[in-house]
Amino acid sequence: MGNMACLVLLILAASTLSLPPASLAVTSPYVRPPPRETLSLLQDDDADGQTPQQVHISMVGPDKMRVSWITDDDAPATVEYGTTYGQYPFSVTGTTTTYKYVLYRSGKIHDAVIGPLQPSTTYYYRCSSDPSREFSFRTPPATLPFKFVIVGDLGQTGWTESTLQHIAAADYDVLLLPGDLSYADFIQTRWDSYGRLVSPLASARPWMVTQGNHEIEKLPVLEPKPFKAYNARWRMPYDDADHHSHSPPPSGSNLFYSFDVAGGAVHVVMLGSYTDFAAGSAQYNWLRRDLAAVDRSQTAAFVVALVHAPWYNTNVAHKGEGDAMRGAMEEVLYEARVDAVFAGHVHAYERFQRVYDGKPDPCGPVYVTIGDGGNREGLAEKFVDPQPAISEFREASFGHGRMEVVNATHALWTWHRNDDDVPVVADQVWITSLAANPACNTNKNKM
Ligand SMILES: *[C@@H]1O[C@H](CO)[C@@H](O)[C@H](O)[C@H]1NC(C)=O
Ligand SMILES: [Fe+2]
Repeated sequence: MGNMACLVLLILAASTLSLPPASLAVTSPYVRPPPRETLSLLQDDDADGQTPQQVHISMVGPDKMRVSWITDDDAPATVEYGTTYGQYPFSVTGTTTTYKYVLYRSGKIHDAVIGPLQPSTTYYYRCSSDPSREFSFRTPPATLPFKFVIVGDLGQTGWTESTLQHIAAADYDVLLLPGDLSYADFIQTRWDSYGRLVSPLASARPWMVTQGNHEIEKLPVLEPKPFKAYNARWRMPYDDADHHSHSPPPSGSNLFYSFDVAGGAVHVVMLGSYTDFAAGSAQYNWLRRDLAAVDRSQTAAFVVALVHAPWYNTNVAHKGEGDAMRGAMEEVLYEARVDAVFAGHVHAYERFQRVYDGKPDPCGPVYVTIGDGGNREGLAEKFVDPQPAISEFREASFGHGRMEVVNATHALWTWHRNDDDVPVVADQVWITSLAANPACNTNKNKM
């Protein structure tokens, strides 16, 4: 073969590699830069004992918001708010809690639920009547389109910081986090530094989170109760007080819950990978009740679920760790025609085609692993070879995802790699609603 022919063949081969047809499994060749240091935000130097710190908000029903914050010393659990900067005609006083963890004593952890609030509206607020810090958030829209940011395994490193900068620059309504928040790993002051790190974003948009293995923090004899810090600091809407009569039934546990956005057009189910999920467990029974109450034919155009340990994963890291939960719950999600399942845990990005029971299935969920927020453990770079056909795209880089539900049939999923300091779209796909696919119509009585 002549040199020229060789060259042509090489170019052909190279172009096929860089532009694969959509159906081909792709392992990205991106070479990532080195790890970054853990950040140090151990002190809030400008704070006195009553200064609100670590402020974050979460949705409660269709038109309320829970404001959570911490003060070093006693302070009123009061949120004052209104729609004009510096004017606070409304005021709600909530509750305060604390926890101890071995020798650590938490600050005063306050929360208050405010509302009813108007959709798509900016509210200004302050906490504990402290005039030195003013906050604002925008309420989510009551109709589609609706924009989610999804990011897991965030941690608090230089990479976390760049991920957060990219998220801050995005226009979004609600952030979803499938577990592993602070990587405090028993050192409770790290929960405080994490709270400070995320507060600029989490005080401005609802952060709806579920827990990962790093939230367990059980210690033999000393701390037998799991999720102590997580439950105290990241209370999500799960009980009767948080629900209206039309809402899905409350779960009764902070470790799993669900909520609606966009007037019920999107139903989000947050599951707990590290609490009982077997048939007959509280979580399993609640999940069945919850999904049975979702009206796919009228209201809920999309249903998505979040878990921590992925049910589908072709990374060598954490292989098989989600299998037991998948065995218990995959059919329940499938029968309800859940459109997508987002997981964390594996520190890499991976997107699967629609799958059920290990095989391609046009009525199964799209599975995405998005455990690449930026934590201190680094990336999971070893993938199983060859890439199984159900895995459509995988790459071990830090980044975040965005899901824009544009209308009742179409949602655009985009993965933004931290291409060092700028976010670069490295994967993108349209997810179409299974409720709008006649071939996937199910008879609800089967549930
Ligand atoms: C929904 O959005 C998709 C993608 O932009 C578009 O192709 C489709 O026509 C839209 N459907 C309706 C009913 O507007
Ligand atoms: Fe994890």
